[in-house]
Formats: sequence, C-alpha cells, structure tokens
Amino acid sequence: MKKTILTGLRPTGNLHLGHYFGACQNYLKMQNEYDFYLEIADVQALTDNFNNPEKVRKNVKEITMDLLSIGLDPKKVNFFIQSKIPEIAELTVFYSNLVTVARLQRNPTVKNEIAQKKELFGNNGESITYGFLGYPVSQAADITAFDGELVPVGDDQLPLLEQCREIVRKFNSIYGTVLKEPEQVLSNITRVKGLDGNEKMGKSLGNAIYLIDDEETIRKKVMGAVTDPNKIKKDDPANPDICMVYYYHNLVNKENLNSVCSECKMGTRGCVACKKELINKMNEFLKPIKEKRKEYEENPDLVDEILKNGTAKAQAKAKEQINKVKHAMKIDY
Ligand code: TRP
Ligand code: SF4
Repeated sequence: MKKTILTGLRPTGNLHLGHYFGACQNYLKMQNEYDFYLEIADVQALTDNFNNPEKVRKNVKEITMDLLSIGLDPKKVNFFIQSKIPEIAELTVFYSNLVTVARLQRNPTVKNEIAQKKELFGNNGESITYGFLGYPVSQAADITAFDGELVPVGDDQLPLLEQCREIVRKFNSIYGTVLKEPEQVLSNITRVKGLDGNEKMGKSLGNAIYLIDDEETIRKKVMGAVTDPNKIKKDDPANPDICMVYYYHNLVNKENLNSVCSECKMGTRGCVACKKELINKMNEFLKPIKEKRKEYEENPDLVDEILKNGTAKAQAKAKEQINKVKHAMKIDY
C-alpha cells in the first residue's frame, strides 16, 4: 500500500520561485511514490480574504494551472477544492472541542499572521475572527479527512502540524484510535530569499518572481537585485555570499556556479554581465513551465475536468474517513 500524502495551498495568488524551490519541486518526486492529495484550500484562503471572494475564486484555477505547468501529473495527483469536501467542515466542528482558545492564540504561525494582518485583525489582534483563529483546526481536518500520513510543508507550517498531532492524540485518547498522526516532509530548501535580500520571497513583500513573469519583468527584477555593496567598479573583487544574484545562480545556473563564484572573487566578472547571465538562465528555466501552462490556458475545460476528477476521488476518501470518525464519536445514527 502506498502511503498517503496531503498538502494544501491557499489560492490567493500565482506561484513564485519561493513556492517552487521551497515546496513544489519536492512534489514532483513524491507524485511517483505516494497516493497524493493536493488541496486547493479555498475555505482557508477565505479566513483572511472573506471580504474578497473574487480573488479566491480566480486563484483556484490560476494556482491549479501553475501546479500543472511545473509538471504535476493529474493521473498521479488528486487536485481537489477544499469547499467541495463538506466532511472537512464537519471534522473541523468536531475537533474544535478538543482545542483550547489559549492554545490557538499561542500557535506561533497564527500569532505571526495576525501580527502581519493589522488592517484586518487590529493592531493587537483585538479584531481576530473566530474563523481565522481556528484555521489550524480546519487544517487538521484537511489532513485527517484523507488519512494523511505525510505532509510536505514549509518550515513556517510546523506549528500547525504540531497542533494537528495534538488534536489527533486527543481524539484517539477519547474516542479510540481512528486517526493517524501526520509527519512533516521538509524540502532541502525551506525558504527562498528575495532578490532584495529579504530572508523570504513573498507576495506581500513585493519581492517575488512568479512562474508566469514575462521576460521583460524578469529582466527588471534581476537588474534591481541586491549585490555586494562593496563592489563599485566592474573589476573589483567581491563576495558572492552576500550577493542575491549569486544566490539565484545557485538555483537556476548550478552548472556554472563555480565559475560565477571564482570570477566574482577574482574581480573578472562585472555585475551587469553576471545579472544578464542570470536573466538568460532564469528565462530558460521558466520557458518549459510557461509553454505547458499555455496548453492549459488554451484548454480551460481540461483544468475543470482535472479538478472534477480529483475532487471526486477526494470525496470518496473523505466519506470513508468521516464514517469512521462518526462511529467512534457515537454519532453514526
Ligand atoms: N496553511 C497552508 C499554507 O498557508 C495551506 C494548507 C491548507 C495546508 N491546508 C493544508 C498545508 C493542509 C498542509 C496541509 O501554505
Ligand atoms: Fe554578485 Fe555577480 Fe556582482 Fe559577484 S559579480 S557581486 S556574484 S552580481
């Protein structure tokens, strides 16, 4: 029996290189080895975008196309839409009895996000909604609805997994052993830095390179990247370790990394030429992804079909699981 793997993405924007190297590249290998459920987490996206339903709606399809374009195979991966699986909402209600409000408020991921969303939740989180505070519970439902054993996530998600395991243990101790404790799968790169030198690439940070960026956009973004500030003239020797251009050569131009490094250190490489080389490599890297995406853009019915089929498989699995849960909780009337 193949192990079950489940992960989710919030449909709030297109995928960028941070998603790709931090998580999605890993999915490509895992799709061959596991029973893979990939959730487009529209309900979770609404917890902090409840006032912007159009954005979530539009991005369900956008993010699905992005994921398909990197080479995920719909025959191997069940793409499904969270809101189409009402069992997740049911489990969320059942699990909410097993979690204290204080524990949710202490969850580091939730705390961080509240602090970043002052406009929505107030300067000190005083306007936090019940729904947002409770999204770790709903994420535990996402995972356990499919009997998820492995969960590929970024390191920012670890507190959510920890909380999921706590819920599982509590459930099993009260109602009998029904649920599995999921394990995280971290990628080698858990966080991709921004071209601006920020520790993290992110949509809200405005420093992301998207898989759908066109060549001109890539050129502008790379030309503006942060390099070694001590290098003034073209032939000054410099330190690649503090240069974001070098950091990105390491992602998309591995085959020439040694020469980029030594030439930079010797002062035989100018930053403009170095950036131009990176632009070319970045475009080469993105080209097949964009070509594949175009096939799906020209064939939107195919994307609908993929979501429909994946959702049907997910529905069947969630149904099995909720029956077990309800039986254990003695509400299987
Ligand atoms: N919280 C995740 C994120 O923001 C998305 C997500 C939703 C998820 N449901 C999940 C991740 C289940 C792993 C498992 O990226
Ligand atoms: Fe960075 Fe390249 Fe300039 Fe060195 S030569 S500082 S690696 S951009």
